[in-house]
Amino acid sequence: MNGAGEQDRPVALVTGGGGDIGRAIALRLGRMSKAVAIVDIDEQAAALTASLVQANGCEARAVRADVANPEQIAHLVDAIEDAFGPIGIFANNAGIEGVVAPLHEYPEDVFDRVMQVNVKGVFIGLKYVLARMIPRGWGAIVNTASTSAIRGRAGLSGYVASKHAVLGLTRTAALEVAETRIRVNAVLPGPVESRMIRELDDQAGRASHGFRRAGATRYGQPQNIADVVAFLASREAEHVNGAAWVVDAGITAG
Ligand SMILES: NC(=O)c1ccc[n+]([C@@H]2O[C@H](COP(=O)([O-])OP(=O)(O)OC[C@H]3O[C@@H](n4cnc5c(N)ncnc54)[C@H](O)[C@@H]3O)[C@@H](O)[C@H]2O)c1
Repeated sequence: MNGAGEQDRPVALVTGGGGDIGRAIALRLGRMSKAVAIVDIDEQAAALTASLVQANGCEARAVRADVANPEQIAHLVDAIEDAFGPIGIFANNAGIEGVVAPLHEYPEDVFDRVMQVNVKGVFIGLKYVLARMIPRGWGAIVNTASTSAIRGRAGLSGYVASKHAVLGLTRTAALEVAETRIRVNAVLPGPVESRMIRELDDQAGRASHGFRRAGATRYGQPQNIADVVAFLASREAEHVNGAAWVVDAGITAG
């Protein structure tokens, strides 16, 4: 295999690629990749993204998998590399919001599932992709955290705890690969026009405890996040490692 060519137009893997932000990331990475593998627990949503990436002229494959299931993720990493070659870009993006509820009423089963998907899922993705990247010595990983990784949010204890953990995993992995040409960064979106934010706003509006989103004057678009993920995955960001890259139009700047 020609290492330089693989690095010029790498294979990309996007989890949660059937969702609003993941779809935008897959489409954006399709412009700089040899092929994009789109992973989602929702098979139809992943297939739609794959067809959109293909329509733009990039090879794409949809794969149904649960990011929190190590066997499924190990298998899909093997299958993607067998089909397309080394994974050079990994957008570790799948996540769930849980519910809006005060901590003393927050359901424990929901807390467990949020941790399972958002923390263990990100860990499993890092583990199996890094095991492939480290012997090769190159690659770029972008974990989707949130501004909930650096701020508290009333009513979102599970989500906030999980996204703080994503930042911890990002920084730890970044240190472990700091002597290589592998980079691990996090993108921290503020509120983005999406199913997830509509659901959270609906729940916050309906709930008797009256939690409201604080400070969001303007919602971003999925494309805004995808553009930053593409930058972090690119050669232009070769000296960026372990960063927590906020994309929120300044909401958390104050
Ligand atoms: N939407 C926002 O405002 C916002 C803000 C900050 C961070 N984020 C983060 O961005 C990422 C993408 O969110 P989104 O807004 O596109 O939400 P979304 O719900 O539209 O997309 C998430 C996707 O992940 C998939 N998914 C869920 N659990 C999975 C699992 N176990 N295995 C595989 N796939 C799974 C879903 O099917 C869905 O397609 C998430 O990590 C989210 O926490 C979103």
